[in-house]
Amino acid sequence: MKTITVSFLLNGKKTSVTSLPNRTLLDVLREDLGLTGAKDACGGEGECGACTVIMNGNPVNSCMIFIGQIEGTQITTIEGLMEKGEFHRLQKSFVEAGAVQCGFCTPGAILTAKTLLDNNPHPTDHEIREGLSGNLCRCTGYNKMIDAIHLAEQGGLDD
Ligand code: FES
Ligand code: FES
Repeated sequence: MKTITVSFLLNGKKTSVTSLPNRTLLDVLREDLGLTGAKDACGGEGECGACTVIMNGNPVNSCMIFIGQIEGTQITTIEGLMEKGEFHRLQKSFVEAGAVQCGFCTPGAILTAKTLLDNNPHPTDHEIREGLSGNLCRCTGYNKMIDAIHLAEQGGLDD
């Protein structure tokens, strides 16, 4: 099989990757680019959301994206969420609200939450549950994630 080279914007930086075309974005992020924030909790079956990244403003399961599909896209991983050395307010609020337990789902849940707040700055509890429905969490029961997202929405952790 022949390799392909793709170029895209990763966490704001122009990035090129040469890879076999049957590898996934998750493989390339973790194995080639050393970005291990995106996790694999379902064997790449598209069922857990632990591998979530933001692609062109939408949360996607990076285990379901083949590398040939990312040419020209903008991708944000959890590693790209910090600004000027500071954690993003959602990262702070998840810790503050106790929404991080084993932590395996947390990067994906935070990235999904970011797209949720970008599109709907004041979501209801129901909208948050709906928004997080693709991000499976075995630990928190989601209530603490809902608290965390409301906390971030209020901007109380910007300082
Ligand atoms: S690893 Fe489970 S959805 Fe991607
Ligand atoms: S904190 Fe453990 S799976 Fe969500």
